[in-house]
Amino acid sequence: MKVLVVGGGGREHAICQKLSESKKLTKLYCAPGNAGISEIAEIVPIGATDIEGIVNFSKENKIDLVVVSPDDPLVMGMVDALNKEGIRAFGPDKNAAIIEGSKVFSKELMKKYNIPTAKYEVFDNPQNALEYLKGAPYPAVIKAEGLALGKGVIIAKDYNEAQGAIKSIMVDKVFGASGNRVVIEEFLEGTEISVLAFTDGKTIIPMKSAQDHKRALDNDEGLNTGGMGAFSPSPIYTKEMEKECMEKIFIPTMEAMNKENRTFRGVLYFGLISTKDGVKVIEYNCRFGDPETQAVLPLFSGDLLEVFEAIIDGRLSEVKFSFKDEKSVCIVMASGGYPQKYETGYEIFGLDEAKSLGVSIYHAGTKHKDGKIVTSGGRVLGVCAQDKDFKRAIEKAYEGVKKISFTNCHFRTDIGKKYI
Ligand SMILES: Nc1ncnc2c1ncn2[C@@H]1O[C@H](COP(=O)(O)OP(=O)(O)O)[C@@H](O)[C@H]1O
Ligand SMILES: [Mg+2]
Repeated sequence: MKVLVVGGGGREHAICQKLSESKKLTKLYCAPGNAGISEIAEIVPIGATDIEGIVNFSKENKIDLVVVSPDDPLVMGMVDALNKEGIRAFGPDKNAAIIEGSKVFSKELMKKYNIPTAKYEVFDNPQNALEYLKGAPYPAVIKAEGLALGKGVIIAKDYNEAQGAIKSIMVDKVFGASGNRVVIEEFLEGTEISVLAFTDGKTIIPMKSAQDHKRALDNDEGLNTGGMGAFSPSPIYTKEMEKECMEKIFIPTMEAMNKENRTFRGVLYFGLISTKDGVKVIEYNCRFGDPETQAVLPLFSGDLLEVFEAIIDGRLSEVKFSFKDEKSVCIVMASGGYPQKYETGYEIFGLDEAKSLGVSIYHAGTKHKDGKIVTSGGRVLGVCAQDKDFKRAIEKAYEGVKKISFTNCHFRTDIGKKYI
């Protein structure tokens, strides 16, 4: 089979890696990819949101399956556009991707089907939002409705901060139309856990749980980022908790989407929080998470391409796969300054030396320049290792990190450490 993966980050590198191990694969393409992905797939210089470009390339090259990985093209309807031309595609259609594309939709879905989540109100004009915020409990969680590159959520500690949030989201429109409406939620306390699940709308099979580290600096200080590291499984996600999630969250969500005529086929990501009143949903994503995928997929044992095909055909219950009983850790190496201003174009040293230690290196923001591999984004690499022992997995990953260097490199030194 000829397969095209759409996307170009660490998550797509991890997906391409697993797909490249499939017996059914004859040729792998990735658009737009990156320097690391180019070692296992042919790079196609088409942007991940260029629907027309991807459709045309797939037609011309007789692609058998397109794997649409990032949120934007899914929410924009890339899968629908491909299907319309008779091209098979993995990922939810636009109708189902709304579960991530609109936080108002997902909150209303959870309320309607009694899926545990934070209490909330929705506002479509700034005056009413501010009126409500005058009497609201603090901290208050203010969320732009639509996609906002993971920056659309503000946790306001008082009315003053809330005012600033409403102004930037609804008046200054820093996230464009994504800020036409806001969700204002109660603040939940607890530990966040991510669970990615395969579903074809009939069966839902969770992968190993994960936890990520969103803040830029050690001890969860500094600004929020796309993620500075992750580990899997989460030590606090017990068998009992898994059962509770299956009964109260995972299956009810799959069935709710069916009842709404929005059957979800793909990877459904549950952003969970374990509170004193049980596990609640923080948000849904309509795809693999980044960097959780880089920690979770190395534990997957089976043929990922076969799983993707089975999901499209509605026979997920028939395929066999499992997850290794090991601990997995991913440490993100970023450009100094990220998530704010940073410089790129710096040569990356030590990649082969690190690989020879047995770690996997997933590229995020890298490219080739004059025969060298250089930095090209905020998050540059994810260095990942597995072991039976959690502490050893962390050590292994950091041994890999130590071999790699580039100018102004930044990484956290405490990934997973609070659990050992
Ligand atoms: N109700 C809430 N209570 C406490 N923290 C929250 C709540 N909602 C969101 N957060 C925090 O904000 C982060 C981002 O929110 P989320 O809904 O996942 O939006 P997105 O990932 O689209 O930015 C969460 O990972 C969590 O840390
Ligand atoms: Mg989130």
